[in-house]
Amino acid sequence: QVSAQILAFFSLLLLAAQRKEIDAVLEPFLLSPETLREVKNKMRTELEYGLKRETQGSATVKMLPTYVCGTPDGTEKGKFLALDLGGTNFRVLLVKIRSGRRKSVRMYNKIFAIPLEIMQGTGEELFDHIVHCIADFLEYMGIKGARLPLGFTFSFPCKQASIDKGTLVGWTKGFKATDCEGEDVVDMLREAIKRRNEFDLDIVAVVNDTVGTMMTCGYEDPNCEIGLIAGTGSNVCYMEDMKNIEIVEGNEGKMCINTEWGGFGDNGCIDNIRTEYDKEVDEGSLNPGKQRYEKMTSGMYLGEIVRQILIDLTKRGLLFRGQISESLRKRGIFETKFLSQIESDRLALLQVRQILQQLGLDSTCEDSIIVKEVCGAVSRRAAQLCGAGLAAIVEKKRENRGVEHLQITVGVDGTLYKLHPHFSRVLQETVKELAPWCDVTFMLSEDGSGKGAALITAVAKRLRNIDKYLYAMRLSDETLIDIMARFRREMKNGLSRDFNPTATVKMLPTFVRSIPDGSEKGDFIALDLGGSYFRILRVKVSHEKKQTVQMESEIYNTPEDIMHGSGTRLFDHVAECLGDFMEKQQIKDKKLPVGFTFSFPCRQSKLDEGVLITWTKRFKASGVEGADVVKLLNRAIKKRGDYDADIMAVVNDTVGTMMTCGFDDQRCEVGLIIGTGTNACYMEEMRHIDLVEGDEGRMCINTEWGAFGDDGSLEDIRTEFDREIDRGSLNPGKQLFEKMVSGLYMGELVRLILVKMAKEGLLFEGRITPELLTKGKFETKHVSAIEKSKEGLSKAKDILTRLGVEPSHEDCVAVQHVCTIVSFRSANLVAATLGAILCQLRDNKGVGRLRTTVGVDGSLYKMHPQYARRLHKTTRRLVPDSDVRFLLSESGSGKGAAMVTAVAYRLAEQHRGG
Ligand code: G6P
Ligand code: G6P
Ligand code: BGC
Ligand code: BGC
Repeated sequence: QVSAQILAFFSLLLLAAQRKEIDAVLEPFLLSPETLREVKNKMRTELEYGLKRETQGSATVKMLPTYVCGTPDGTEKGKFLALDLGGTNFRVLLVKIRSGRRKSVRMYNKIFAIPLEIMQGTGEELFDHIVHCIADFLEYMGIKGARLPLGFTFSFPCKQASIDKGTLVGWTKGFKATDCEGEDVVDMLREAIKRRNEFDLDIVAVVNDTVGTMMTCGYEDPNCEIGLIAGTGSNVCYMEDMKNIEIVEGNEGKMCINTEWGGFGDNGCIDNIRTEYDKEVDEGSLNPGKQRYEKMTSGMYLGEIVRQILIDLTKRGLLFRGQISESLRKRGIFETKFLSQIESDRLALLQVRQILQQLGLDSTCEDSIIVKEVCGAVSRRAAQLCGAGLAAIVEKKRENRGVEHLQITVGVDGTLYKLHPHFSRVLQETVKELAPWCDVTFMLSEDGSGKGAALITAVAKRLRNIDKYLYAMRLSDETLIDIMARFRREMKNGLSRDFNPTATVKMLPTFVRSIPDGSEKGDFIALDLGGSYFRILRVKVSHEKKQTVQMESEIYNTPEDIMHGSGTRLFDHVAECLGDFMEKQQIKDKKLPVGFTFSFPCRQSKLDEGVLITWTKRFKASGVEGADVVKLLNRAIKKRGDYDADIMAVVNDTVGTMMTCGFDDQRCEVGLIIGTGTNACYMEEMRHIDLVEGDEGRMCINTEWGAFGDDGSLEDIRTEFDREIDRGSLNPGKQLFEKMVSGLYMGELVRLILVKMAKEGLLFEGRITPELLTKGKFETKHVSAIEKSKEGLSKAKDILTRLGVEPSHEDCVAVQHVCTIVSFRSANLVAATLGAILCQLRDNKGVGRLRTTVGVDGSLYKMHPQYARRLHKTTRRLVPDSDVRFLLSESGSGKGAAMVTAVAYRLAEQHRGG
């Protein structure tokens, strides 16, 4: 307080004219509340641009995905190496993390210098120097032999495609090494380690300092979802909802976004508040025109702005007796620490003069007052601007959470924030002012970014082990597009007369020529056999004013011994159930038309004939393959003699589904099943169907895509687990695509992976239980439960506990990850084959953009919490020139089968009548 008085006193001594001129120079540094609000709003707009696919390319705030998907939860453990490059100090650290009740982090570190000529030399020199420092540290710690996992804090903007890849977008701050921009810095580090050939490291993660800081603070406070750096440079990161990040796959959960807000204003949007001094500083920097916001807010530049103002004031004769000294000409003399000292309230003016003296600036008392004032104006503006930017982030978080009042913690680091006497206060006041509905706690990071980087490395290493394990199951878009092209060829072969006999994808004509047109009516029976349930239905379609459908149904058990016994027994069973149903419906005396949904591949030469090509899924009754199932059923009914039935149509469940959905949406021309099995049908042009006479109109083709790959064409993407599933199945060597996709196999696929991982000590601390070893114990419905976004982990715990293993939290996370990979692969594969069908439809119609509806059914699609969304998203990505509506079939295939039967019945009546 005393010094403030002295300051006031001396100020009076300044000449009024001088005073006026100085005020005029500093005036542009005073930002009104409206201006700050405007800055906040502009920042908010730029954040959105950076997140959107279309605007992201030209956005100045780059919003870089970091592939860090959660904050620490205390289960991280292990011994890690960390590098911390890009701030004031370059550090190498050893970080030991203990989890559980005695959770703790111990760190050992050493600071190394990076000479200017290396910062601005060649990339190779820079990375060789880094590796030299690591070698020194490993030597010093006596751990040169251990191949430790490494987390690399690299405090520059990097484009990441995964946690362990980072392409340098552009150097900032004081770095300008050649041949690095556009390169992967992890590769550069790896190569430098190889060049040195003295030790090896496992580089697991590359992290921005903001992210490291958020994680360091997040370890203590789980509410910390923002990381702020106000140091040499300026930047912020925060946890964003995946659904808002358009350029990254997936919608569930969150990912940390490194905003790189330093580039804010590079498009000129804040030029109205940039002063001539700011422009001067920019022109003299290593990266002119770039990082304009950073250059107004961070430690590296504030001193420079001050220097430019002092030069101007000196030129005007208001300072240093009008003499621009050598020292004042020197770039970078005002480091953050000097700035902080000069502005300290505790410092007497004499001491300020001493500091200026140290910097080679000979000052009078008046000079030192003016210098102090200039520093104050510049740093205050910096803190306010930073606060306005942060308010935009906080506001976005509040909107994401959909709350009126947000409570959040911001982890902060950086010399400016830590050393400057007023910066943090002004920053916090500004945030409060501009985001009054948010309760923001600022938490200073005590241990730097290295700790956070190690925590990230701990998690990434575990997941990477799994990813590495399941690498072959993660299909890139490139692969999916390739699979789409392969399937398109398969379709072509199946349709052609010459190739059909040897084709694996059979492309079976169904003799269904159109979707329902609204004129169908009558009273029908539908049988529905082949999915999870055997169902018999009565479907009444009436026509008073508008078409209405009334359905009653009954589910019948089909014991395994019947599915696997003789064909005669199976059809006797079906006939018996039908008899029971007719009895209950009191229609045993009637001869109602019957539609038979039979969900297996059948060759048809007319609607009421279906020669089973091969059993699939759970069925394996003898003597049926090669026979007409309509005949077999008729025979079984005749044999009983207690009722009669008129089987008019055999339809596949895909066809039934397309017809069911077509009843509600005339545009429906594809039927898709993702259930016990998988398959699709679609409306093909007659002229493309060689196997059926005639070229007019269209016919529904049952693709039987489950058999895709049976000729070896998918071997490159099948894994050891897929082969094991096949070996243990009822139909080895067949339906290979189906076995990678559908519900009958998915749970088992996960189980096989878990067993192998446990055996290798990657899960459950190596424990394996008899339950875990039992085929079928892990079901697809368990996969669905574990992938639920909220209760998923607790479900995992329950399910695994029931299998006798005592899972840790980490185990649950890992198992969830396995489930995600397996189910994601399934959705991706279906997107590829469906994509091929959509392309065929588009080409058939000769339109640039396809508009169509896909009718969908099946337990996996319906029950899995994420499946449908993933399938839709990937499909739209693979076939961008389309508007596809996915319509869930609410009433099963039975309704559709009745529609087909209705048309057949009408035609038969006409025939009989005419
Ligand atoms: C963190 C880090 C540094 C980082 C710095 C920012 O704690 O560990 O590597 O870049 O803070 O501060 P500075 O002021 O050094 O740029
Ligand atoms: C449809 C049918 C079933 C069919 C099933 C596929 O709605 O009516 O008979 O096979 O869906 O699903 P699922 O999961 O039962 O195999
Ligand atoms: C870099 C950021 C970094 C920040 C703080 C900026 O210059 O572009 O990546 O987080 O400085 O160190
Ligand atoms: C069958 C198909 C059926 C699909 C879905 C496959 O195993 O071969 O005919 O559409 O399962 O139920």
